[in-house]
Amino acid sequence: MSNDKLVIFDTTLRDGEQSPGASMTKDEKVRIAKALERMRVDVIEAGFPIASQGDFESVAAVAKTIKDSTVCGLARALDKDINRAGEALKHASSARIHTFIATSPIHMEKKLRMQPDQVVEQAVKSVKLARTFTDNVEFSPEDAGRSETDFLCRIVEAVIDAGASTINIPDTVGYNIPHQFGELIKTLIERIPNSDKAIFSVHCHDDLGLAVGNSLAAVLNGARQVECTINGLGERAGNASLEEVVMAVRTRRDIFSCDTTLDTTQIVPCSRLVSGVTGFPVQPNKAIVGANAFAHESGIHQDGVLKSRETYEIMRAQDVGWSANRIVLGKHSGRNAFKTRLHDLNIEFNSENELNAAFTRFKDLADKKHEVYDEDLQAIVADSNWTIENERFQLLSLHVCSETGETPNATLVLNIDGKEVKAAADGSGPVDAAFRAIESVVHSETSLQLYSVNNITSGTDAQGEVTVRLEKSGRIVNGQGADTDIVIASTNAYINALNKLMQSEAREHPQLGDV
Ligand code: KIV
Ligand code: ZN
Repeated sequence: MSNDKLVIFDTTLRDGEQSPGASMTKDEKVRIAKALERMRVDVIEAGFPIASQGDFESVAAVAKTIKDSTVCGLARALDKDINRAGEALKHASSARIHTFIATSPIHMEKKLRMQPDQVVEQAVKSVKLARTFTDNVEFSPEDAGRSETDFLCRIVEAVIDAGASTINIPDTVGYNIPHQFGELIKTLIERIPNSDKAIFSVHCHDDLGLAVGNSLAAVLNGARQVECTINGLGERAGNASLEEVVMAVRTRRDIFSCDTTLDTTQIVPCSRLVSGVTGFPVQPNKAIVGANAFAHESGIHQDGVLKSRETYEIMRAQDVGWSANRIVLGKHSGRNAFKTRLHDLNIEFNSENELNAAFTRFKDLADKKHEVYDEDLQAIVADSNWTIENERFQLLSLHVCSETGETPNATLVLNIDGKEVKAAADGSGPVDAAFRAIESVVHSETSLQLYSVNNITSGTDAQGEVTVRLEKSGRIVNGQGADTDIVIASTNAYINALNKLMQSEAREHPQLGDV
C-alpha cells in the first residue's frame, strides 16, 4: 500500500465566508490564516480578490503574512478576475490561482449562455493567463457533479495541456452520492490521457449531508487533494468539514493509502477561532470538535472507557486538540501567562494595544469568575469590538431594571463616533430594552435575524456567549459578545454586529458572475 500525501486545501476564508453572515474583516482573516498555517494546511484559499476592494486587501494581507502554506486566490475564467488575483498574490511566498468556469448543461445554457466549445476555449485562455503569474494553477469545472463525463474529459485534458497542475472536481450543489462520485473521479483519472500531469482534487458541498462521504469516496478513487473548511462552514449547507476528512483518513489508515501532514492538535483551537470570529456556534454533537464529541454520558460507556479507552473511543481527544486540564488561568495570572496561553490557542495580536485591551477584559473576568478556561479566553477575543478598525460604536455603560410586575427598562451610554450619547428604552425583557435603547439613537434600519445565547463553560458563573445576526439591504453580519452577565454580552453582540455592518461593503458573488 503506497503512502501518498493527501493535500489539504482549506477554503474557510473563501467558500466559508460565502455562508450568509460569516463575513470576516481583514484582521480576522489574517488571524485565521495564521492558525491554518500553524496547523500545516497545505493551501489556504484566502478569498476572491475581484469581489471587492476589501476582499482584494484581505487576500493581499494573507499573502504577505503566510510563509509556510500556499496562498490561493479565486478567479472566474475572466481576464479581469485573473489579473486581480495575480496582483493580490504578488507578495506570496507560494501563490496559486484557482480559476473556474461552469461545465454542466444547465449552467452553460442558463447561467453562462455559452456553447460548450466557447467554455473550453475560455477555460484554456484563462489557465494560460493565470500561468503568466504563477506556475501553480488550479482549474475547476464548476458543477462537475452534474456535468457530462465526456465533456469533463475534454475540458480537463485541454486545461492540463494549457498548464493547470491541479484539477478540482466540485460537487457544487451537493447532489452526488459517494459510490457514484468516487466512480466519476476514477473514470476521469483513467480516461484523460494527460491526467498524470495533474493532482485531482474534490470540492464537495453538503446539501444532502454527504460532503465528507463524497470527498472520502473520491480519495479512495485517486483524488489527492480535498477542499474543505473548518467546522464545515460554507455556501448553503456548507462544505466538507476539514476536521472530519482529516481524522477519517488518519484514523482509518487501514483503508486509505494516503495521509495528510497536518498537526491535528491544532484542530480544536482552530475550530473555536472560526466559530468565534464568524458567530457560527459548533453544535455539541458535531464530530471531532463538538463539546460532546468525546463525552461519555451513559454509565456503561463511562465504565468501559475507564477500563480501556479503546472500548468506546476511536481517537484520542488530545490528538485533535482537546486539552485535558482545562482550567488555565486565574485572577493572579500575569500578562505573560495570558499572552503565552493565547499564543498556544493560535491567538495573536496585531498590536500591543489589542493585547492590553484583551488583558484588561481577562482581569475583569477573572475577578468575577475564579477559574478561567480556554473557552473563556477564546470568547474574550471573539467578543471583538476591539479588533474592528475604526469602530463607530462602543458601549460605555449599561443599567437595566428587571422586576416582577414592572416593565423592564435599559439606560445606556454609547460612544458614537467619539461622542458620548445617552439612551433609554422599555422592552419586553432587559435584552429587548437594551436593543431598543441602542436603536433609539443609532437608527440602523436593520432587522434582527437571529439571537442566540450559549453558555461557554458549565456553572452559573459561566460566561454567556451571544450571537446577534443583523440584516440590512441584503447584507448580513453576525456579532458576538461574551460576559458572565448575559444582558451585557447581548448588548456587546448587538454593537459588534452594528460595527461589522458599517464596515461591510457590496461584494460580487463568485458564482453569480458574468462569465
Ligand atoms: O462549489 C463550487 O463549485 C465552488 C467553485 C468555485 C470551486 O466553490
Ligand atoms: Zn463551493
